[in-house]
Parts: sequence; structure tokens; C-alpha cells
Amino acid sequence: MSDYLVNLGTNKMARSVLGSIGIPVPQKLRRAQGAFTAEPLTGRTAWSGGAGSGLPIADLLDKLGADGGDTEADVLLFDACGLAGADGLKELYRAFHPRIRGLRRAGRIVVLGRPEGGAESVEHAVAQAALDGFVRSVAKEVGRKGATANLVRIEPGAEPHALGTLRFLLSDHSAYISGQPLTIRDRGEAPSFAPRSLQGRVALVTGAARGIGAATAKRLAEEGATVVLLDRADAAEPLDAAAVVAEGRILTCDVLAPDAPERIAETLVALGGVDVVVHNAGVTRDRTLGRMPEADWDLVMGVNLAAILRIHEALAAGPLRDGARIVLLSSTVGLAGNVGQSNYAATKAAMAGLSRRLDSDLAGRGIGVFAVAPGFIETRMTETIPFTTREGARRLNNLSQGGLPQDVAEAITFLSTDGASGLSGGVLRVCGGSLIGA
Ligand code: NAI
Repeated sequence: MSDYLVNLGTNKMARSVLGSIGIPVPQKLRRAQGAFTAEPLTGRTAWSGGAGSGLPIADLLDKLGADGGDTEADVLLFDACGLAGADGLKELYRAFHPRIRGLRRAGRIVVLGRPEGGAESVEHAVAQAALDGFVRSVAKEVGRKGATANLVRIEPGAEPHALGTLRFLLSDHSAYISGQPLTIRDRGEAPSFAPRSLQGRVALVTGAARGIGAATAKRLAEEGATVVLLDRADAAEPLDAAAVVAEGRILTCDVLAPDAPERIAETLVALGGVDVVVHNAGVTRDRTLGRMPEADWDLVMGVNLAAILRIHEALAAGPLRDGARIVLLSSTVGLAGNVGQSNYAATKAAMAGLSRRLDSDLAGRGIGVFAVAPGFIETRMTETIPFTTREGARRLNNLSQGGLPQDVAEAITFLSTDGASGLSGGVLRVCGGSLIGA
């Protein structure tokens, strides 16, 4: 599915006509193609300011390939870790007031902060809490330029782990992530950037025949992974096509089948183990609760939750390697709830819980777990939503447009790499800063 307003907006004349009658036309997002690179900011200008994290942020921007910028720039990176009280927060005004209007189209803003928990004083705690509202508001203001703003909270001692997340959030790989807070935790030694860092690693993607799963298989392969693409027998044709793109292996399997966990584990054992597991297969059966047939409740619970638990158990006891990464597909609907989706929302909220629980269960093996909560993504799943509801869900975000499967695939792929070493146990929304689930 493609977005008619975004397409129309690429025509200058149409853009100005629509603008003149008060219809805001979304900016076509600038999306990266191919693998992550060491210097994603090459050819871009960046400004940095603030202090408190101890990170040499100006040097870091230099390492990412950026040139210096000031009142006009593609990137604004501000270290707010040291801010305390209302007087401290004035630094945000001083930094952003003269520069925000000069942020270029598809620009990136990242603010660094500390988790409230470790605050040194009441003033420090409130200023760090304030960053959340500040960044979410700024994200809404810059969205019409196709630009994003995000908040990265760094636990003291976890600073080296922040670099991978900054490289991702400041790049064109994170086009549909906006208004999001992420917390970086100290998880031992932080690996440095290596191109194609999934080379030699094995990844499993369930529901890989189409949509987000197929896009993820392709991106994981671009980072060097050997990908096993799993889907049902009735998706054989698109599964073949997705496997050709990802140069991967096919596993035809219904995750609900009693022998599915065993078959998946056997396949991965034969490949020497698995390093990345993406639990993506999912279904909807929307009906208000009073009208929902029991079979619809059971099917959604079965695919979106029970199968994941059973498959995880079989993998954890067998082929799941120490140091692996697990990514769970949640949804903004799971965080906010939605009429007619009580079954689906329950399973998607469960993924946020599973992320927290598996993080604590598997930390000892160096295994990282993260949930990804997409907002409105243009796939077969959202194609079936009635037009007016679909249009509302598509526009109600900072960027006034739906995301593409590629946008979610980028986040999943980043979370599967060593660059995400400081991230575990949380949820990352890929929703353009959707009002739903905020
Ligand atoms: P999709 O419907 O395009 O693809 C889902 C894939 O899962 C299909 O290829 C399907 O055959 C497979 N699948 C379904 N049941 C299966 C089973 N029993 N065994 C094996 N494979 C099975 O869906 P889409 O949009 O790509 O969604 C992927 C994930 O992202 C899902 O978990 C979904 O809930 C989640 N998500 C999607 C959003 C969107 O806007 N598209 C928003 C939020 C979450």
C-alpha cells in the first residue's frame, strides 16, 4: 500500500496548492538503503552542545562523518545529563531556540539525559523528568519537515554503550522513530562498530513471507546474517520470493503446530545454533469483546503469545547461543488499547512484559531482549482496516504518514546487532510519534 498524500507531496505544484487550502502535506521521509555504515552522517552538518554525560559528543559527531554546523544543521545533539532545576532547563531554550528553525529537512535531534532513578538531587530529578515532555513536544514541532527528535537516557557507567544507539538514531535508518525515550544500561564491555556485524551469525524470522517479516529478513541478510525464513505452507509463494531476496533458508511451518518448537529447534541446531530470534508472526481477529467468537480469541492468543512462549522454551534449552539477541513484535495498540482489539492488544502488551522478564532471566547468558511496537505500518494487515479509521491511524503522528515495513525492519535489525548492546528489557515504538499509545 502506498500513501497518496506523500506521493502527491513530491510534486511541488500539488504541494503548494494543497498547502494553500490548509491541507498539510507530509514530507517524504529520507530512508537509508542497505547496511549500517560507520559514518552515516557523511555530507551532513551537525551541532552539539551541553555537558554532563562525560561523552565527547563533538568528537563523536566527527567520527560519524559530520561537518560542523550551527544555526543551520542536519543534526542537533544536546547533552542534558547535567541539567538541574528550572534554571538548568533554561539551557534547553538557549540551545534550541536559535537553532530549531534552521534544522534541515529530514534532520535529527537527540537529547541525552539520565534516568530519574539515579538523580543526585530533587532539582536534578525534575529536570531529567522534564526532558521527556520537552523532546516529545520538539518531535511534534519538527515532524512536518520529516525530521525526528528522540531522548536517550544513559545510566551512569553505560556511556560507551550509547554510541551504537546514537549512530542509529542520528542516521537515515531511523526515519520513522520519533518522540521516543530509550534507556541505555551498562551491559559489560561495549563492542565497537563493525560493518556487517551479523556476518557468521544465524537469524530466525517468523512470519517472514511478507510485510515486516520479509523486510526484516532482507535487512538482517544485508548485515551478513544467514537467515531462516519461517512461514505457513499457504504463504509458500511469497515465502520463496522473500527467501530469494534474503538469500536465506526456508522453513515451512505453522507456529501453532504441536511439533513446531521441535522442528524449529532441529533446523537451528543443524545450522550450529541461533544468534538472532525475531518473533514476528502475528494475526488480528478484530471484534468488540461481546461479539468476539471464542475461536478468534483463541487464534490470536495462540499465534501471538502461546506459540512464542513454546518456541522460546525450545530454543532457550537448545540452539539459542549465549550473547544472542531476541526481538519481540509488540504494537502501539498493546500499549494504548483499541476498540475491537482486546484479544490482540492483550497479546501485544504481553510482549512488553516478556521483554522485561526474559531480560532478567537471560542476562546471565549475555542475551539481550527487546520489544518493538510498530504504529501504523503500510502492510496487508492494515490494508483491511476501513478507510476512515485507516486514514485517522495513518495521519495521527508527528510525521502525518504511515510507516513502511522497512522502517520496522531497520529497528529490529539494529536491535539484533552489537550496536544495541546497552538496550535490553524495554520497548521501542516505531510509530512516527503516534498519538496512540503515547
Ligand atoms: P502480515 O499479515 O503482513 O504478515 C504476518 C506474517 O505472519 C504472514 O506472512 C503470515 O503468513 C505469518 N503468520 C501468521 N500466522 C502464522 C502462523 N500460525 N505460523 C506461521 N506464520 C504465520 O503482518 P505485518 O503487518 O507484517 O505484521 C508483522 C508483525 O508486526 C505482527 O506481529 C503484527 O502484529 C505486528 N504489528 C504490525 C503492525 C502494522 O501496522 N502492520 C502494527 C503493530 C504491530
